[in-house]
Amino acid sequence: MIRKICCIGAGYVGGPTMIVIAENCPDVIINVVDTNPEKIEAWNNKDLSKLPVFEPGLVKLIKRVRNKNLFFTTEIDTSIKNADAIFISVNTPIKSSGVGAGQASDLKWVEASARRIAESATGHTIVIEKSTLPVRTAKVIKEILETKQSFEKSDSKFKTFSVLSNPEFLAEGTAINNLQKPDRVLIGGDNFDSINELKSLYLNWVEEEKIICSNLWSSELTKLTANAFLAQRISSINSISAICEVTGADIKEVAKATGLDSRIGEKFLNAGPGFGGSCFKKDILNLIYLSNYFNLKEVGDYWEQIIKINDWQKKRIYEVIVEKLFGNIADKKILILGFSFKANTNDTRESPSIGISIDLLKENSKLVFHDPKVSPTQIINVLKNEIDSNQFSKNISFSDDIYSASHDADAIIILTEWEEYKMIDWKKISNIMRKPSWVFDTRGIVNVESVRSEKINIWQVGNGFLRN
Ligand code: NAD
Ligand code: UGA
Repeated sequence: MIRKICCIGAGYVGGPTMIVIAENCPDVIINVVDTNPEKIEAWNNKDLSKLPVFEPGLVKLIKRVRNKNLFFTTEIDTSIKNADAIFISVNTPIKSSGVGAGQASDLKWVEASARRIAESATGHTIVIEKSTLPVRTAKVIKEILETKQSFEKSDSKFKTFSVLSNPEFLAEGTAINNLQKPDRVLIGGDNFDSINELKSLYLNWVEEEKIICSNLWSSELTKLTANAFLAQRISSINSISAICEVTGADIKEVAKATGLDSRIGEKFLNAGPGFGGSCFKKDILNLIYLSNYFNLKEVGDYWEQIIKINDWQKKRIYEVIVEKLFGNIADKKILILGFSFKANTNDTRESPSIGISIDLLKENSKLVFHDPKVSPTQIINVLKNEIDSNQFSKNISFSDDIYSASHDADAIIILTEWEEYKMIDWKKISNIMRKPSWVFDTRGIVNVESVRSEKINIWQVGNGFLRN
C-alpha cells in the first residue's frame, strides 16, 4: 500500500496534483520537492496570495493539507529515500540545441530525477511518470534505475523499482476541478501489483470505471494524442474563423451548429488568437519528431499543419490591427488586455499575447499592459528574452486600471478572456480614447453592439457581420 509519496517538481502539475491527493488521502504523507528553493519557499508562504501557482480553489485546499500530510521541501534525497511511490513531475521542454533541437523533448530533468531516485531510494519503489514524455521514455528510466538495483533481501541495500506511466490531463485554470473529478485516470505499466497500488490510491476519490489501465507505450502515446487532438480542434476552428471574416459567416454560429452534432461535440470550438500554454506546441512537436524518427513523414507533415495554422492566426491578427490603424502604429498607444495564455491562470508560457505584443513593439507602438494575475515583472521577464530591452523599455508601461489606461489610446486589444473584460463599460471608454478608436476582440467575448453604439470601431475574431 502507498503510504509515503515523493513528488519531484513543484510546478503547475506537481503542486496542484499533490494538493488534491493529500486532500483525498489523509493517511498518505506527501513530500513535494524541487531543485528551485525559491519555488519551495513560495509554496510555504504564509501569505496565500504569494503561492507560485494561481488556480481557482487551490487556496482553500492547501489550507487544509499543508504541513499536515503535505510538505514542500528541498530535502530531495531524504524524501526519495522514505517514499513508496515517486511521481516525476518535472518540466520537459523542447530541446534548444543538439540532435532533435526544436522538436524533441529535452529529457535532462527527467534523467536527473531518475538518477537521483536510483541513488537515494530504498526498498521497493514505484516510480511514476507524471510529466508528459516521448513514447518509450519509461524504458530509459528503467535502464537508469536498474543500474542501482539490488535484489538481496537480507541486505540493507535491497532496492527494486517498477515504472508506471500516469499522465496528467488537467488544464490550467480548472486544475483543481479536473483533478477532483477527472474524465479518466490512465495508468500504464507492466507490473500488476504496482498498477493496483496506484489504482488503490486513486480509488480514494475516483470511480473505478474511470481508471483505465494500459501498457506503458499506449499510456505515453495517449497523452500526446489527447493534446494533439485538442490543439487540432483549435486550429480547425481558427482556420474557419478566417473564412467567416471574408464571407460574412459568423464563427459562433458555425461553431454552435457544428458542435451540436454529438459526434463532434461542443467543447474546444472557441476561435481565438491561437492556442498558448506550455504543452500543446511542445507535445505536437514531439509527435512530429517521433513520426519522422520512425520514417512516417506524412504523419509528421499532417501534425505540423496544426502548428502552422496556430502561428498564422497570431500573425494575421497582428496584420489586421496594423491595417485598421492606417498601416502605421508607430507611437500609437495600444492597451493590451490580458497576458496569460488563458483566463484563470498566471501562466504566460507560449501566450499568444507574447508574439502579438512583440510584433507591435517592433513597429514602435506604445503598449500598456493589463492582466489581473500576471505581474509587470513577469511581463518584462518574458519580453526581455524575446526583444532587445532598449527597443521596448521606453515603449511599455503597466496599469491595473483599464479605464485610466485607455486614456488617449488608439486601440484596445483583448487577448485573454478574463471575466472582467466581458463587463467593460464602453461608454466610459469611448469618452477617453483617441478618435478614431478601435477594439480588437481576439477572443470573441465582447458584445459588438455595445461597442459600436459608443462610436468605437470593432474587429472581432471570426465575426463576418463586421465585414463591411
Ligand atoms: P513547471 O516548469 O511548472 O514545473 C516543473 C518543476 O520541476 C520546476 O519547478 C523545476 O524547478 C522542477 N525540476 C526540474 N528538474 C528537477 C529535478 N531534477 N529535481 C527536482 N525538481 C526539478 O512544469 P509543469 O507545467 O508543472 O509541467 C511538468 C510536466 O507536466 C511537463 O512534462 C508538462 O508537459 C506536463 N503537464 C503540464 C500540464 C500543465 O498544465 N502545466 C498539464 C499536464 C501535463
Ligand atoms: C491543455 C489540455 O487541455 C490539458 O488536458 C492538458 O493536460 C494540458 O494542456 C497539458 O498537457 O499541459 P492547458 O494548456 O492548461 O491544458 O489549457 P487549455 O484549456 O487546453 O487551453 C490551451 C490553449 O488553447 C489556451 O491558449 C486557450 O485559450 C486555447 N483555447 C482553448 C482556444 O483558443 N479555444 C478553445 O476552444 C479552447
